[in-house]
Amino acid sequence: MPDNGPAPLLPADFLFGAATASYQIEGAVNEGGRGPSIWDTYSHTPGAVLRGENGDVACDHYHRYPEDVALLTELGVGAYRFSVAWPRIQPSGTGPANPEGLDFYDRLVDELTASGIEPVVTLYHWDLPQALEDAGGWRVRATAERFADYARILADRLGDRVTRWITHNEPWCAAFLGHALGRHAPGTQEGTPALAVAHHLLVSHGLAARELRASAAEHGRAAEVGITLNLERLVPATDSAADRAAVDRAETLHNRVWLDPLLLGRYPDNEAETWGALADGSYRRDGDLEVIGQPLDFLGVNFYRPTKIADAPHTEPDPARRTAIDIGTSSPRFEGVRHTTMDWPVVPSAFTDLLVDLHRRYPGLPPILITENGSAEEDTDRTGERVHDTDRIAYIRDHLTAVAEAVKAGVDVRGYFVWSLLDNFEWAFGYERRFGIVRVDYHTLTRTPKDSYHWYRETIREHAAAH
Ligand code: NOJ
Repeated sequence: MPDNGPAPLLPADFLFGAATASYQIEGAVNEGGRGPSIWDTYSHTPGAVLRGENGDVACDHYHRYPEDVALLTELGVGAYRFSVAWPRIQPSGTGPANPEGLDFYDRLVDELTASGIEPVVTLYHWDLPQALEDAGGWRVRATAERFADYARILADRLGDRVTRWITHNEPWCAAFLGHALGRHAPGTQEGTPALAVAHHLLVSHGLAARELRASAAEHGRAAEVGITLNLERLVPATDSAADRAAVDRAETLHNRVWLDPLLLGRYPDNEAETWGALADGSYRRDGDLEVIGQPLDFLGVNFYRPTKIADAPHTEPDPARRTAIDIGTSSPRFEGVRHTTMDWPVVPSAFTDLLVDLHRRYPGLPPILITENGSAEEDTDRTGERVHDTDRIAYIRDHLTAVAEAVKAGVDVRGYFVWSLLDNFEWAFGYERRFGIVRVDYHTLTRTPKDSYHWYRETIREHAAAH
């Protein structure tokens, strides 16, 4: 198939979208009454982010959002997924709403709906108000309760135009990259507290879901509530019993820790093998599973690459003495496949396998939205302003094909959001890694659609014409 070949046929009402997140694009960190978040603190910590970069300016979307909505309109997407920065709404994470913060998202939502684009809102894409972190962050239950207050404020204000809400984005990253591996804000390496974070994120999801629905009911509006997970397709390095057991532990760390409470109403049954004594349960309360396990209207899935898993020695051999999360696995490299500039292997069939497996393992699975998929590329092939990102086009096309295969196999996938509309602040990698279908020149902040943007627009247009 040529690199710019067509995308596969998907169901007639399939939703095509594009996604971003507040801290990665907005900039204007000291404007509109916004308070500091843990990502402001972390990105300004020497050594935390590649080249010492931060989100102070980012894509300056806070000021340039009309231009960005115009790009979405021209692209022809049915929906745009963005996140709200909690510290713009409640600068210190509690108390009354900051009117300027609400006004910003109000204008953005108006701009989108005026263009016929559905706003899909993520409540939490990792920018926790720093004041809440100072009071214990997600390690303490109170933060989950504050999150519910914040959800209510947003639902009351935006719920007349926003129907689809995503409570959390990739809680695995918030919990474990943030508090166990220490590579995301707040940047710590903890044991039991990291598990408490995971649990409180789930509780906060449930509490927020209740508020979103209560607000909708009071106002006579519709609300659809979901959560976005970065589910992992985990492949054993060999067929040995040790490697397969390692995959079971990794399944719990990455997938089951979320999916089992959300969809099955219980905690994974192999917690003891996975966490050892760290899972002391001290942070769990009666009734939590009921809060967490309310019905989901949809499940958001972010997928980029599969991960190979092998059994590996623990840093601390005595399980009773382990103080940090260490499940005794390593991730050998995939050989013989292309790797993107994130050094992530490109294996589109793993996407189909993940979705089909999910469908098989969780019979009550709600409809799925692919809330992120895309690739970071060098983008060095340029003529003037144009970026000839053929590898990105091939990546997106092949992953859309993988989604179509899953749909053919019976998985109820309703939509796909490309990550990302714009090149943006790629967390610990700063601006070096570019995921956008629109190039951002970080000196001038000029936006230039790449070839992948034109390809995606054509794909959306052809899809509509074919149905
Ligand atoms: C998932 C995250 O939600 C997003 O913020 C990030 O930029 C992409 N993955 C790419 O790493």
